[in-house]
Amino acid sequence: MRDHDLLAGKTALITGAAKRIGETIAIALARRGVRLALHYRSSLEEVQGVVSEIRRMGGAASVFQADFSDPTSASRLFQEAREQCGAIDFLINNASIFPDNGLMDFSVDDLTLNMNVNAMAPLILSRRFAEQEREGVIINLLDSRVADYDRKHVPYHISKRSLYSLTKMMAVEFAPNIRVNGVAPGLIIAPEGERPDYLERLKSTNLLHSYGGPEDIADAVVFLLESRFITGQTIFVDGGRHVRGHMYD
Ligand SMILES: NC(=O)c1ccc[n+]([C@@H]2O[C@H](COP(=O)([O-])OP(=O)(O)OC[C@H]3O[C@@H](n4cnc5c(N)ncnc54)[C@H](OP(=O)(O)O)[C@@H]3O)[C@@H](O)[C@H]2O)c1
Repeated sequence: MRDHDLLAGKTALITGAAKRIGETIAIALARRGVRLALHYRSSLEEVQGVVSEIRRMGGAASVFQADFSDPTSASRLFQEAREQCGAIDFLINNASIFPDNGLMDFSVDDLTLNMNVNAMAPLILSRRFAEQEREGVIINLLDSRVADYDRKHVPYHISKRSLYSLTKMMAVEFAPNIRVNGVAPGLIIAPEGERPDYLERLKSTNLLHSYGGPEDIADAVVFLLESRFITGQTIFVDGGRHVRGHMYD
């Protein structure tokens, strides 16, 4: 049986925490007594709203800005969070970009940007986290698409596959002090700018003919943070889409 107070009093740094899945993870952790360092890039007003909600719940939260298109900004972010919040127990690499690019049309700059934000910044944050030389847990937000081929988002796909591989590599390098795991969402929230029927239209692409909510992702994150004996693992929270191996048209 798991002890539900295991997380209380710990400190988590969550990237991209102003809205959507990052916000839901932040609130779920605050409910369990985790103190939060919330990163944002441009959504200052939204992240301040998350801080207010957490403080209303009696929790503690601070905000930190960084743009990972220059991934070295991740080092500064980590240092600022440590200075203000003390040692960081949990690192949740959630921030991401998801631009449209096919195999024939992406540029070197497109690939660099996706790699910087989606793989290199998480790796740099993880290095700084490991340099604390204390116990901790890293969770990388991946994508169920890492299991097959997403022909409409190729540089994104390459960057998430890199983070998927890095999850296992870091689990090896940072053991036994630090556990490193991934959560791979499927259909959860439509990308910004998509038509309102996005989730309904795509739900037939998974085995359960359904879509999840951000709380399903937060549940998986909490499970992995609380677990004692899981590392190098990725949980697919995707209605079984990775088993079916959907090819995107
Ligand atoms: N939504 C889904 O259904 C779904 C499906 C599969 C995988 N995922 C993965 O789950 C995670 C959360 O998904 P989501 O849809 O909630 O994410 P999202 O809204 O697309 O992005 C989260 C945050 O990333 C931040 N971000 C974007 N560019 C950045 C940059 N250059 N530097 C630093 N931060 C940057 C943004 O912060 P600001 O708003 O402050 O600029 C944004 O709010 C992501 O890793 C995503 O790939 C989600």
